[in-house]
Amino acid sequence: MSGRIAVLISGTGSNMEALVRACNEGEVPGDVGVVVADRDCAGLKTAAELGIATEMIDFKAFGSREEWGEKLRAVVASYEPELVVSAGFMRLMPPGFVDAFSGRLINLHPSLLPQFPGAHGVRDALAAGVDTTGSTVHFVDYEVDHGPILLQEEVPIEPDDDERTLHERIKQVEHRLLPQACRLILEGKVTLKGRNVVVSS
Ligand code: GRF
Repeated sequence: MSGRIAVLISGTGSNMEALVRACNEGEVPGDVGVVVADRDCAGLKTAAELGIATEMIDFKAFGSREEWGEKLRAVVASYEPELVVSAGFMRLMPPGFVDAFSGRLINLHPSLLPQFPGAHGVRDALAAGVDTTGSTVHFVDYEVDHGPILLQEEVPIEPDDDERTLHERIKQVEHRLLPQACRLILEGKVTLKGRNVVVSS
């Protein structure tokens, strides 16, 4: 099975790039068909250089979150994705968007959810003084960084870590974890039934 993947980004797009590589190398049975951003960002340029279709649905150009969300839904749906991946997408998706892609919409977050949701998951883990954080891939629901968890991996915090060094190490993990999650879904080994993640062999 080969599934089309839509990736939503707002920034660097290193996870998008890692996913494209994993698809090209056959580790993920799919292809990134489009990269969509809510703002102009470095990841859009990277995607274009990789020969991938790009779309910018500029949040600031819309009168409301709902109007923006409806446009986002329509554009993403037009690519008929089997899987929609939010990887560094810095906007809460409106309910209409979440409903449209339910069961095939996942998000990547740099903490061990439910710990440290929100825009500063790495900084918040450091401030809390915990000795381990990590990354989570989860199905998206209506709340921020919330929803049934698919995969998690721990990352130890080193005594001399700052936000940048810790986030870099988390991203190294994410570059493996996200492709792994996409593979499990596209191979049909993981599905969402209601709020439960069902794993089959
Ligand atoms: C990742 O750490 C992801 O978990 C978080 O935003 C970061 C995106 O990084 N949601 P990049 O744009 O993929 O480099």
